[in-house]
Amino acid sequence: MARLIYSAITSLDGYVADEDGKFDWARPDEEVHTFFNDLERPIGTYLYGRRMYDVMVYWETAHEVADQPRYTREYADIWRATDKIVFSRTLEAASSERTRIEREFDPEAIRELKAAADRDIGVGGPELAGQALAAGLVDELHLVVAPVIVGGGNRALPDGVFLKLELQDERRFASGMVYLRYRTASG
Ligand SMILES: NC(=O)c1ccc[n+]([C@@H]2O[C@H](COP(=O)([O-])OP(=O)(O)OC[C@H]3O[C@@H](n4cnc5c(N)ncnc54)[C@H](OP(=O)(O)O)[C@@H]3O)[C@@H](O)[C@H]2O)c1
Repeated sequence: MARLIYSAITSLDGYVADEDGKFDWARPDEEVHTFFNDLERPIGTYLYGRRMYDVMVYWETAHEVADQPRYTREYADIWRATDKIVFSRTLEAASSERTRIEREFDPEAIRELKAAADRDIGVGGPELAGQALAAGLVDELHLVVAPVIVGGGNRALPDGVFLKLELQDERRFASGMVYLRYRTASG
C-alpha cells in the first residue's frame, strides 16, 4: 500500500505564500533542492490542486532552459517522469504529459489509488491537501520551514483538523531552512 505524503515549503508562521501571493522566500537553494529531489524521486503519482499545478507545470518545459544548474535539470526530469492528477472544476485541458484532470476530490477513490499503487503518492497545494488531511488520507507530512515570518497569506495547514504526529526525521540546512518529517496516526 502506497503512502500519501503532503510536502510543502512554509514560513515559520505556517504560510506557503504571503498576503501578496509571493513565496520567493521559499525558493530552495542547491542544498535544499538536491535534498528535495531525493525526497520526490520515489513518488509515482502527484495529486495537485489546480493552483499548485499552475505553478508546478513550469517543470514540464524547464529541461529546455539553457545553462541551468544540475539540480534543477534533475528535478525537471523527476517531475516529467511522475504521473499527475490535477483537481479542478475549471481547467479545460492539462498542459503536461502523464496528467489527468479530476473534477471532484473523492476520498474513497484516493483510498483505492493508495491501495493499488506500488509507489508513494504526493499531494500538493494546501486547499487540496487540507481535504486529504481532513479525510484522514495523509500518512506523512514533509515540511520545509523557511526562516521567515510573513504575517499572513495562504496557510499550509487547514483549520478544523486535529492530528497527532510522530516526528520521523529532521534536518537543518545552511540557509536556515529546516526539514521536518512527521507520520500521522493513520500513517
Ligand atoms: N511555498 C512554496 O514553495 C509554493 C510553491 C508553489 C506554490 N505556492 C503557493 O501555493 C498556493 C497553492 O495552493 P492553494 O491552497 O491556493 O490551492 P491548491 O490546493 O493548489 O488548488 C486549489 C484549487 O484546486 C481545485 N480544487 C480544490 N478542491 C477541489 C475539489 N474538492 N474538487 C475539485 N477541484 C478542487 C480548485 O481548482 P479550480 O478553481 O480550477 O476549480 C481550487 O481552486 C498558492 O498560494 C501558491 O502561490 C507556494
